Amino acid sequence: MSLNCHSSKAELVDAQRQLVSEYNKLKSCNLNLDMSRGKPAASQLDLSNAILTAPITNYINCEGNDVRNYGILTGIKECRDLFGELLEINPDNIIIGGNSSLNLIYDAIARYFMFGKLGSTPWSKLDKVKFLCPVPGYDRHFAICEEFGFEMINVPMNENGPDMDMVENLVKNDSSIKGILCVPLYSNPNGVCYSDEVVTRLVSMKTAAADFTIIWDNAYGVHHVYKKTNLANIFTLAKKYNTEDRILYFFSTSKITFPGSGVALIASGDKSIAEIKKRFGVMTIGYNKVNQLKTYNFFKNAEGVLNHMKKLGEMLKEKFDIVLNKLDLEFSNSDFLTWEKPAGGYFISVNTLPECAKETVKLAKECGLILTNAGSTYPYGKDPLDSNIRIAPSYPTTDELKMAMEVFSVCVKLSAVNKLLENKGE
Ligand SMILES: Cc1ncc(COP(=O)(O)O)c(C=O)c1O
Repeated sequence: MSLNCHSSKAELVDAQRQLVSEYNKLKSCNLNLDMSRGKPAASQLDLSNAILTAPITNYINCEGNDVRNYGILTGIKECRDLFGELLEINPDNIIIGGNSSLNLIYDAIARYFMFGKLGSTPWSKLDKVKFLCPVPGYDRHFAICEEFGFEMINVPMNENGPDMDMVENLVKNDSSIKGILCVPLYSNPNGVCYSDEVVTRLVSMKTAAADFTIIWDNAYGVHHVYKKTNLANIFTLAKKYNTEDRILYFFSTSKITFPGSGVALIASGDKSIAEIKKRFGVMTIGYNKVNQLKTYNFFKNAEGVLNHMKKLGEMLKEKFDIVLNKLDLEFSNSDFLTWEKPAGGYFISVNTLPECAKETVKLAKECGLILTNAGSTYPYGKDPLDSNIRIAPSYPTTDELKMAMEVFSVCVKLSAVNKLLENKGE
């Protein structure tokens, strides 16, 4: 019989006994499993080994510059062209940075904090700075806002992206709202793809703050797993409203080649990118062009990246299938857990019964399975319902993942049964 919120007390007590026994059996296996972070498996990394092993036979790039030497602040042309073609962005509006898009995001926010954006008051000089945070979202984005002392405002996500009625109402009257954090394709964690309407509303809405900035972190822009979803080109739409400088677009090859050892980029409108270039010129003489050339040599063009992503997508699909099939098997007839099947990205986001996520994660940890901390998908680590858990299936082997999902399912059920019995006065 399947359990749910309406199960009788006798059924729940019976299930609890059985689940505790299953849980203890799993605990005695002394497991050491990790589904906490979106790290690629070693087999995924192996696909990019030629970046490391292929010799560079020509150090002179297409513009006649020796990539081993200083210079070329904005990144080698072939790399900017490659990502320009892939993401349909004018290469002149792209700067290839270092090894991390998160680093570029942090630096961008730090620059506006210290120097302001395009003549506006530096954010450090304002009494209050607020950021809109679509939830659930990416914990490291929230950590940056928290570090700078910004007030984070939760904006619920629906199947098309953030609730745009709420966003528009907030930004039109409040000049202390300086930005919104977006992962527009296969969002982290719930795999939402922003609809054309949402993207249009983001670039066309009236903002009280002239320096309002859309952090467009397209980390999963080419990470299709079950089907290819098309994301509207934000720059094309913004052109119509003359708001290209509102956008700071980020992308990296962290989840394509080697996390932390790939290349990252920032793109924006003409005025913003000119300002960023000026400030970059003070900060560095140039980023790692040898790595840029190796990345370019490996892919050659956008098609090269997309072919590579097909192979990665197949690997991820195998892992996603294991998780989704197990969830179907265990919870399709129960209301103890809800989830959506993402079309791509890196994560599967689930919702337990209210007030059960923390307990599920705790039970799992004590049973040898590390999950992303409950609450971390919300600003300040506070999930108002204590319900959302992010599953990251890429890192474990398929056998480990099957075992991890076994543990996870038992922990979700046990925490739900315990909570229901507690509410019934047990
Ligand atoms: C949405 C999002 N942005 C950025 C990053 C980090 O990217 P990078 O390695 O380029 O700093 C991640 C990594 O998980 C991510 O999920």
